[in-house]
Amino acid sequence: MSSIIRRAMLGAWVVLGLSLGHSAIANAENFGQISYKDDVRPIFELRCLECHTNNGPGVVGSGLNMETYEDLMRGTRFGPVIIPGNAMVSNLNVLVEGRAGIRMPHNRKRLTTCETAILRDWVNQGARNN
Ligand code: HEC
Repeated sequence: MSSIIRRAMLGAWVVLGLSLGHSAIANAENFGQISYKDDVRPIFELRCLECHTNNGPGVVGSGLNMETYEDLMRGTRFGPVIIPGNAMVSNLNVLVEGRAGIRMPHNRKRLTTCETAILRDWVNQGARNN
């Protein structure tokens, strides 16, 4: 094969590779985007609202109401439990991952690693009302 043809083919592969690589990355970003409404709120509904809404024991005990996004972001009477962009230091993540003495949900089955990962990714992506 002449070096000109070889070089042209190489160029074509590079262009193909770049465009494939680019769309693969774009897809990964879309798949990885967590939605408060579709992904996060349903976990709270199933596993937290039993105690963290109205006058439930979680609201009475800590002040944390998880009914709406605004309630959730207000946190407990001592302050926020979510620091947007930083799940490492967000109390909500610390508690559901069992990184502290107490774990949430209280006296209930722990969240699955998939559920804790959804909450972690959502907080790390900015804890948006999306
Ligand atoms: C069976 C009841 C119950 C369930 C279910 C429950 N909680 Fe709680 N939660 C409590 C009570 C009671 C408190 C306050 C006393 C304490 O901190 O132990 C509390 C406190 C908290 C706090 C504040 C801790 C602090 O003082 O900083 C967070 C954050 C929290 N819960 C998150 C959650 C999350 C997230 C879920 C769901 C995955 C959840 N809880 C499910 C009862 C519950």
